[in-house]
Amino acid sequence: MVRCYPVAIMHATHLTEPARTLTLLGLESSCDDTAAAVVRAVPGQRAEILSAKVAGQTELHARFGGVVPEIAARAHAEKLDLMVEAALAEAGMDLSEMDAIAVTAGPGLIGGVMSGVMCAKGLALGSGKPLIGVNHLAGHALTPRLTDGLEFPYLMLLVSGGHCQFLVVRSATEFTRLGGTIDDAPGEAFDKTAKLIGLLQPGGPMIEQAALSGDATRFPLPRPLLDREGCDMSFSGLKTAVLRARDALVAKQGGLYVQDQHDLAASFQAAVSEVLAEKTRRALRLSGAPAIAVAGGVAANKVIRAGLEAVAAETETRFLAPPLALCTDNAAMIAWVGIERLRLGLVDDMTLAARPRWPLDSTAPAMLGSGKKGAKA
Ligand code: KG4
Ligand code: ZN
Repeated sequence: MVRCYPVAIMHATHLTEPARTLTLLGLESSCDDTAAAVVRAVPGQRAEILSAKVAGQTELHARFGGVVPEIAARAHAEKLDLMVEAALAEAGMDLSEMDAIAVTAGPGLIGGVMSGVMCAKGLALGSGKPLIGVNHLAGHALTPRLTDGLEFPYLMLLVSGGHCQFLVVRSATEFTRLGGTIDDAPGEAFDKTAKLIGLLQPGGPMIEQAALSGDATRFPLPRPLLDREGCDMSFSGLKTAVLRARDALVAKQGGLYVQDQHDLAASFQAAVSEVLAEKTRRALRLSGAPAIAVAGGVAANKVIRAGLEAVAAETETRFLAPPLALCTDNAAMIAWVGIERLRLGLVDDMTLAARPRWPLDSTAPAMLGSGKKGAKA
């Protein structure tokens, strides 16, 4: 027997909501963090994160040297409802008090995204609340509006283990991609380079630490694609250059001294920082944006951050870096995009599908292999 459930069909209406207080539950499960959060926006005031819960999966994947999609999906399915319960409890609210349920519907590892979308559909169906599918990259890109109330337009640089792109953010639904990596994401390059020179994971913080006592000028590593116009970047050749420098040292002296390790780390970090700074200079020039915001784990790097800040200062551009917990994957950013979309009358229905690939700027040419850690856009 086919059972029919009463489903409220909630198509995108494009009708702007009259300003009112909105409280949303957000869910995120596109890579290796299972997260739920409750965010409230009162008209005319800065939005408030009432709760934000994240369960990481680092230990589950550690021995495989990368995120294993099937393990990630299973862990999301196990943890999502627990995170939702915890987020609602911390906010002191229940589902009936939410105005809608927002969920990452892509891009990302498909099993994890499906776990989140199924969970959100169940919650929406059970509570009769609207369901809003959110692009994970829009979550990162709109975070400076949640944290700082930043006005459109602005330039966004996403730099993490899975993403690397410049976006001009024109509205909650209009993004123009100015360029991005054509191979590895920078965080991925940090992680792989750390492995090559015998440092632990995650490679980014380890390289930053080692570089503190290293000579950044000892190894003349390339600055990939600086000779090419535009804002595209490449990081995989840099990693190969580190491999060659390491092999030359091993051939000469039988191994790496600690100082070699630190000098390689510092030289690598300087190359990434210089490339990101120069490409940011170009993206600012191309976009004419009055502000630049950064997001992603790599934005935690102090040398890289200082390089970007210096470029912003040169051009008298406002520089924003949201707190780290909101720079990396989280559900508050998803709830916030839900609020922005609900205000525009953009809601979904039970046909909402999980999308492994979902570029924010559908007019930009597809990038081969950009960000291989997860199947990102
Ligand atoms: O945004 P994120 O937490 O997760 C996703 O990629 O989705 O970024 C993690 C990445 C890792 O590759 C990590 O090595 C890198 O960010 N990372 C850093 C630093 N902290 C984290 N890279 C450079 N310097 C850091 N201090
Ligand atoms: Zn992300």
